[in-house]
Amino acid sequence: MNNSFYITTPIYYPSGKPHLGHAYCTLACDALARFNRLEGKNVLFATGTDEHGQKIQQKADELKITPQEYVDNMRKDFKTLTPLMNFSNDDFISTTEERHKKAAQEMWKRLEKAGYIYKSTYSGWYCVSDEAYFTEEELVDGKSPDSGNPVEWMEEDSYFFKLSAFTDKLLEFYEQNPDFIQPEIRRNEIISFVKQGLQDISISRSKFNWGVPVPGDEKHVMYVWIDALTNYLTVAGFPEKDITEFWPANAHVVGKDIARFHCIYWPAMLIAADIPTPKTVFVHGHWVAEDGRKMSKSLGNVIDPYEVVEQFGQDQLRLYLLSAITFGGDGSFSRDAFIAKSNSYLANDLGNLFQRVLSFAHKNFDGKIPALGELTDEDKAFLANFEGLADRVKAQMDDYKINSAIEEIWTCVRAANKYMEEQHPWTYKKEDPAKCGHILRVLMESFKFLACLTEPFIPTGAAKLANQLGYEKLTLADLNELISLQEGKEFDKPEGVFARIQIEEA
Ligand code: MSP
Repeated sequence: MNNSFYITTPIYYPSGKPHLGHAYCTLACDALARFNRLEGKNVLFATGTDEHGQKIQQKADELKITPQEYVDNMRKDFKTLTPLMNFSNDDFISTTEERHKKAAQEMWKRLEKAGYIYKSTYSGWYCVSDEAYFTEEELVDGKSPDSGNPVEWMEEDSYFFKLSAFTDKLLEFYEQNPDFIQPEIRRNEIISFVKQGLQDISISRSKFNWGVPVPGDEKHVMYVWIDALTNYLTVAGFPEKDITEFWPANAHVVGKDIARFHCIYWPAMLIAADIPTPKTVFVHGHWVAEDGRKMSKSLGNVIDPYEVVEQFGQDQLRLYLLSAITFGGDGSFSRDAFIAKSNSYLANDLGNLFQRVLSFAHKNFDGKIPALGELTDEDKAFLANFEGLADRVKAQMDDYKINSAIEEIWTCVRAANKYMEEQHPWTYKKEDPAKCGHILRVLMESFKFLACLTEPFIPTGAAKLANQLGYEKLTLADLNELISLQEGKEFDKPEGVFARIQIEEA
């Protein structure tokens, strides 16, 4: 059985600071990567930056620096998202790295050798900021339909990829690989788009030179997609290493605006180059501001992940983004909903539960794990919640239902709170210390499930909870036995993990 799991984020354009949308996409991948690591899989989780193109060249020119200096500088902000959000990416690829130039050129050569690349002339209305051509009909008031920015008529020599040869092949491919495009709604959209027939795509430019040179024709640089999409192969070791350890990738997670490139261009290129296709492209939605409008600097409604983390906390932001919406759908960022979720899920339900039980147990049982007596029917009914919990969470995660996975866990967090209230161990402290210890111990056994399974979503806090129970690190293997803590083992005096967010009065 192949025990590897390779997951990727899109590579981000480093032409501005990273925003909530970038953080979200990497976060979803991080949760999936972390869950697969808990399962004991050999995980490769990659993110990075897409550093070529005319827009980058223009920005560098404005600043009177080289494009390389510009991207070297801008990339830093994307790299700091990793510590900010506690991302666990194993690689960070930049398309200006040598390893990637080699991979993109090799990809080009394979496509050319297979007869899928030809040279012709390209013309159309070009928008520099979007790096895209539009047809006359697509323009809105003579401007780009995407950004509203001005367009100019351009004609140039260009190489083309024979995408038109793939209409039927792709339809057959989607048919044979029903999990390739997820969720279903995106799959249906892509299939109906492909059914209309595909046109060849332009894959080189000669009007600027900030890109990977086209092999054998140095006047041209690759234009966007062969360069950008091949990054996923570069990370897997293409073309120099044996890529079979991690390729084909398990999942490319992408936003809906770039679904077509990943669901149409990419499999077509891979089929053309005779390289295996990834298992899944998962398409997620977009976050908009609280008022439902697109976040934009001019509207002043951009949500900055750095500010949110600094003000409210990292696990708080992670949990909100992952649980507030169905993975795949759109979301609007609500400050009130964010604070309410942080306080109820983290401070009250989970944080208070651990703190109350562990500090009481630490104080009254000499800092040692109390003994377990005979399990009562109530204990058994409570613990039954945790039997199969890891499998239930796994089923949701394997199905990309991240928010449902979180709900599975919180159903059990709530069950633990209910059990604690109903059994009120503190009332037996004097008259029946053994019973008091027994109830605390039952709760502590349930805690190892919670500390372990919340890790993919709130890794910093979950690691602290695991440490409080005396574990250096928990994995799903630690959950095989319902009862497994060691009686008499010392544990540290706990400290509160999730602070309550105080809502300041206006
Ligand atoms: N460089 C290309 C991707 C190449 S992948 C081979 C690109 N970069 S991007 O920086 O513009 O966007 C990267 C990702 O961020 C996309 O998946 C996009 O959907 C996502 N998001 C941008 N804004 C977003 C939101 N407001 N919400 C959620 N995701 C958003 O496209």
